[in-house]
Amino acid sequence: MKSEHKSLFSIAHDHFHGLMVAQMIKEDSEEIAGFPTSPEAKARYTVHFYNQELENHFYIEEYILQPAVTGISKEIDEIFNGVVKDHKDIEKMVEGLKDEKDLVRKLDNLGRLIEQHVEKEERVLFPKLQETLSGKELEELSEKLSANGYEHIYKY
Ligand SMILES: [Fe+2]
Ligand SMILES: [Fe+2]
Repeated sequence: MKSEHKSLFSIAHDHFHGLMVAQMIKEDSEEIAGFPTSPEAKARYTVHFYNQELENHFYIEEYILQPAVTGISKEIDEIFNGVVKDHKDIEKMVEGLKDEKDLVRKLDNLGRLIEQHVEKEERVLFPKLQETLSGKELEELSEKLSANGYEHIYKY
C-alpha cells in the first residue's frame, strides 16, 4: 500500500487520539492507564476532548479539506457527505453527554461511531483522495493545511 501523503498523514495522526478516546468510552473496553474510569469522568473527558481538539479537527476537514477536493469526483463528494453527517451526529452525541442519564449507553454509542468514522476516513476517503488527486494536487492540499496552522493546532 502506498504510504499516506504528508497532508493526510497529519490528519491521520489526530485520529490516533480519537481512537484512544473511543476505546476508553466503549462499554466493553478495558481500562486504559491514565484515562478516566467512571462514566461521569469519561463523559467529562470526552466533552473536553471535543472542545479542545475534535471540533477543530472537524473544522479542518470540512472547511479546508472538503472545499479543496469538492467537484473532482462524484464518489469523493458522496463520501464527504457521509463524513459531514457523522461530524454532526458526533457533535450531537457529545452534547448529549452533558445530561448524565444513561451515560454508559451513550458513551458506548459515541465510541463506536467515532471508530467507524475514523475507519471511513482512513480506509475509504484518504485512499480515494490519494488515488484520485495528482502529486501536485496533494502538494497543494498540504500547503493549504499548513497555511491554516494545522500542524500548530495538533501537536502531542
Ligand atoms: Fe472526520
Ligand atoms: Fe478525521
